[in-house]
Amino acid sequence: MTHRILILGGTTEARQLAGKLARRADSSVTLSLAGRTESPVAQGVPVRVGGFGGVDGLAAYLREEHVDLLIDATHPYAARISVNAAEAARQAGVPILALRRPGWEPVAGDRWTLADNAAEAAKALGEAPRRVFLAIGRQEAGAFEAAPQHRYLIRSVDPVEPKLAVPDALYLLARGPFPEADERALLEKHGIDAIVSKNSGGEATFGKITAARALGIEVVMIRRPTLPGVPSAETVDALAAMVDHLFDPVAERGV
Ligand SMILES: NC(=O)c1ccc[n+]([C@@H]2O[C@H](COP(=O)([O-])OP(=O)(O)OC[C@H]3O[C@@H](n4cnc5c(N)ncnc54)[C@H](OP(=O)(O)O)[C@@H]3O)[C@@H](O)[C@H]2O)c1
Repeated sequence: MTHRILILGGTTEARQLAGKLARRADSSVTLSLAGRTESPVAQGVPVRVGGFGGVDGLAAYLREEHVDLLIDATHPYAARISVNAAEAARQAGVPILALRRPGWEPVAGDRWTLADNAAEAAKALGEAPRRVFLAIGRQEAGAFEAAPQHRYLIRSVDPVEPKLAVPDALYLLARGPFPEADERALLEKHGIDAIVSKNSGGEATFGKITAARALGIEVVMIRRPTLPGVPSAETVDALAAMVDHLFDPVAERGV
């Protein structure tokens, strides 16, 4: 019997997990992308692109495509799709697992200011003009129009359109991973004195956090959204082991 696995992706780990699960002889894997990125990196497995149309659309897709397992491997800040996934899986009676990358923890030398969302982060920068590195992606960059007194360096995978209505913004198009040495050079070159970041976790975007620590730069860290409580693992290997357990419980017991 072939197990049909749908992975909700948009992250490096989702791609890695898809590659790993695709090697199972008894499974067929489809990776789902939202379609936000204009030229996503090759995923190596069959891909479908675009929203499902909310909970009902995703539940219908799970039924129509006879999906046996839904895996939520989306970014920790993609809360809506994670909530939708949990509810659609419940409605369709399909098991769901989630890959939840742990967040970073501050250590000695970090200067973090926590904010609940992008609007709060813009306020947390304060009144006095600063040189701000905005590294939260393009979707919420618009919130910083509320703080036009700062100079911004804005990095994203795809262009920020429309450009922000602030007098001083420089746009940088780049896709991670971003090593610490490069981040440090970037911060120094632009005289950055505050970074706005999501607590994404993982290695690929951690370089700016350690570079900020080394240079004594403040990081305004946007808190993670609350995600639904579904069975989850923190790493690709641990999630793959959960899939083994689900599909091969007998083999696992060595019977
Ligand atoms: N938010 C971030 O900081 C961030 C960072 C890196 C990567 N990403 C990736 O970018 C994508 C969009 O993130 P977001 O924050 O806009 O998500 P979101 O706010 O949670 O989702 C908004 C809508 O986009 C659609 N969608 C999201 N992920 C999808 C997927 N993997 N496959 C199909 N449809 C999807 C869904 O549309 P329908 O309701 O129509 O189904 C969802 O309701 C996600 O795949 C996420 O993993 C996000």
